[in-house]
Amino acid sequence: MNNILCIGAGYVGGPTMAMIAKKCPEYRVTVVDIDAERIHAWQSDRLPIYEPGLQELVKATLNKNLFFTLDIAKGIEEADIIFVSVNTPTKTFGQGAGRAADLQYWEKTARQIKTYAKSDKIVVEKSTLPVRTAEAMERILKSGNPTVHFEVLSNPEFLAEGTAVKDLENADRVLIGGHDTETGRKAVQALAAVYAHWVPHERILMTSVWSSELSKLAANAVLAQRISSINSLSALCESTEADITEVARAIGMDARIGSRFLNASVGFGGSCFKKDILNLVYLCQHYGLNEVAAYWEQVVTMNQYQEDRFVERMIAAMFNTVAGKRIAVFGIAFKADTGDTRESPAIRVCHALIEERAAVVITDPKALHNARKDMADCGDKVAYEEDPYRAAEGAHALAIMTDWAEYKTLDYRRLYASMSKPAFIFDGRNCLNHKELFEIGFNVYPIGKKPLSHL
Ligand code: NAD
Ligand code: UGA
Repeated sequence: MNNILCIGAGYVGGPTMAMIAKKCPEYRVTVVDIDAERIHAWQSDRLPIYEPGLQELVKATLNKNLFFTLDIAKGIEEADIIFVSVNTPTKTFGQGAGRAADLQYWEKTARQIKTYAKSDKIVVEKSTLPVRTAEAMERILKSGNPTVHFEVLSNPEFLAEGTAVKDLENADRVLIGGHDTETGRKAVQALAAVYAHWVPHERILMTSVWSSELSKLAANAVLAQRISSINSLSALCESTEADITEVARAIGMDARIGSRFLNASVGFGGSCFKKDILNLVYLCQHYGLNEVAAYWEQVVTMNQYQEDRFVERMIAAMFNTVAGKRIAVFGIAFKADTGDTRESPAIRVCHALIEERAAVVITDPKALHNARKDMADCGDKVAYEEDPYRAAEGAHALAIMTDWAEYKTLDYRRLYASMSKPAFIFDGRNCLNHKELFEIGFNVYPIGKKPLSHL
């Protein structure tokens, strides 16, 4: 049971396997992908993703007991435990387009496992999947060689980007869903034994496969719901001069509510929250639970409203026009400490500003490479600048879209001096010192607070 394979070398597969390799030196861990560029990057000093602490983690075991390769067939043949960590994006075509999960990558791996497996395997769903996907996986696998036994487990990943290494090292819980059969229980124990190398026993949770699959969608839905809840109240704060930071603090001090994940913002981004909620909505509709579907869909609707509201507020503050104005967008990553721009609210904001004929310049410490791809359709209507000071030169406004730590320590006097006046700052993350900025001369627009304006 000492050979582990992971199919999919992305944001989840790479870091998770690197952590297993480090904590379980007696296991041989192989990660495969169809993307040759990605696999080569994992073998180099320039990893395909940016995560604090990841370079050191990978370096510690690379080519000792951690291997990245393109040879999927050999990987499957040799493995005892196979994690499947491929992408499961929202479907863009056919039935369920825009809501259902696109399971084509997932299904393809099931067929590959069926084709190349010559001995019994434990197959672990690491990707986030609709409830009862394991059943489809089992059916595909059972249609192959009858002498090979496949046991399918669900083991969703809860890491967040930007803190992946920390989250893996010190997981709140590890969830393993398995069938209540002799082979099912044995497989659960084999997987639990891997995590038991560093995760305390009481944090390894064992459930049915279906509960495990649904718990992952539910966890993301509830996290996103908290953000939409606080963001909905931020709109009311702006209308009533209540302050969302004060409100969040007051409610968060109730131990039953808790203080985390109550930061009002321009909206949540990332590859998963929206996708997973829409997947949940689709599932509910499929089972005829239309009220439940509508309830969760509102979390996504509220997020879009928050992004739209942010741009509307910018335009209204800047005398109802941004046409021809230079706007410096500080941060395009969907959160700090990642280069990931998937579903970043900043992208939607940039598109809306370009639609209004603003001249947009984007700066970001780690995500400009992805931004260039995301904004390719905008051609020369958008510029990219590594240095935030140069991005701000001649700008009419700064829009803070990502809460990068370095944005808190910039020399705002210097930025202000180089900008067109009146100079505006729209803090989409409420991460700056608004009073200080106002005193420098900026007209300051936070989220869910009264603006501080000289006009
Ligand atoms: P990703 O797009 O970064 O990585 C997926 C990888 O799978 C890609 O490199 C792709 O080339 C590869 N792949 C696709 N089909 C393949 C095949 N047939 N054989 C080999 N490789 C194949 O995706 P990700 O962000 O790592 O997410 C993976 C899953 O984990 C998704 O279901 C996601 O919802 C879930 N998840 C993601 C996060 C996160 O923070 N990104 C956190 C928890 C869960
Ligand atoms: C999220 C979950 O937190 C992880 O547990 C989960 O594994 C992962 O999705 C997934 O399934 O992909 P992630 O999207 O990487 O992780 O990052 P988060 O820290 O959850 O932030 C998501 C978005 O919400 C970011 O845009 C962030 O800026 C925003 N956010 C977060 C707020 O606007 N306010 C908050 O209080 C917290």
